[in-house]
Amino acid sequence: PYVVTENCIMCKFQDCVEVCPVDCFYEGENMLVIHPDECIDCGVCEPECPIEAIIPDTDPESDKWLELNRDFSEKWPNITRKGESPPDADEWRDVENKFEKHFS
Ligand code: SF4
Ligand code: F3S
Repeated sequence: PYVVTENCIMCKFQDCVEVCPVDCFYEGENMLVIHPDECIDCGVCEPECPIEAIIPDTDPESDKWLELNRDFSEKWPNITRKGESPPDADEWRDVENKFEKHFS
C-alpha cells in the first residue's frame, strides 16, 4: 500500500482524497491516513499531493508511518471529498519534525 507521512501534518491539502478509486483515506484533525488493507496500490494519489506526503511502502521511509496509518485508519472517519485545508496550511509546508510538534 501507499502511506501518508509527516508532510501532511498541519497541511492536509486533501487533493489525494478526490482521486482514490477505493476511498481508503481517513481523516484526523491534523492529517489524513490511508488504510493499508484497503489501498489497492494504484499509485494515483502519490503525484496529487502538492507536498509529496504520500509514499509507497517500498520506500524505506514508510516503515514508521505504516503502523500509524493502520492504527488511525481504524479510529478516524472515512473521507471521500476534499474539504477545506487549514487556513495556515501554507505556513506548515516546509516545517520539519511536525510529528513531534503538532500531532494529535
Ligand atoms: Fe487510494 Fe490508490 Fe492512493 Fe491506495 S494508492 S490510497 S488505492 S489512490
Ligand atoms: Fe495530506 Fe497531501 Fe493528501 S497534504 S491530505 S496527503 S494531498
